[in-house]
Amino acid sequence: MTKKRISIFASGGGSNAERFFEFFQNDQDIEIVSLFTNNKSAGVIERAKRFNIPYHIYNRNYWQNGEVIIDLLKSQKVDYIVLAGFMLLIPDELVSAYPDKIFNIHPALLPKFGGKGMYGMNVHKAVKEAREATSGITIHYVNEHYDEGQIISQVSCPIELSDTVEEIAKKVLALEHKNYPKVIAEVVRKSI
Ligand code: GAR
Repeated sequence: MTKKRISIFASGGGSNAERFFEFFQNDQDIEIVSLFTNNKSAGVIERAKRFNIPYHIYNRNYWQNGEVIIDLLKSQKVDYIVLAGFMLLIPDELVSAYPDKIFNIHPALLPKFGGKGMYGMNVHKAVKEAREATSGITIHYVNEHYDEGQIISQVSCPIELSDTVEEIAKKVLALEHKNYPKVIAEVVRKSI
């Protein structure tokens, strides 16, 4: 049987991307075949190098209609795409080329604290300002709108009123690392 092939898209430090590189290193069913980034100075590139994952840097212009990227994904026989801190909107053409095959993680409990501009620390700041008693992660399918695709899994954690924005971020990131590769492995394995 041929393994299912995943490409990771990331724009930043890439701590989640690294969890995927590690998690699937010796997996019998699933492999990580490439990394795509829009940011030539993203920390995730060094992580990909360490794991010998081929990487591709395409600036914002290439993500307008995604044509070049779709061709490359198809030539790599990519089955699934995992967004791990990817900050641009996925073009409609790419969503249509990979229907229900693109996953994202959002660092809050959607539908709250989602949408354009809601990424990274902005999300945790908003959670703190709203004096929420819980936050957490949302793993969901990607459609043409930011953070609106069907939810696959949510995991929550308690937030104390005394928690700083950084403390909230740390709690949520720990949940991401623990759950994201595991949940994606479950979804992909079901299709085998
Ligand atoms: C993660 O917290 C992820 O949930 C968030 O960016 C961070 C990337 O961290 N994604 C979004 O906010 C998407 N709207 P990482 O580069 O260390 O994996």
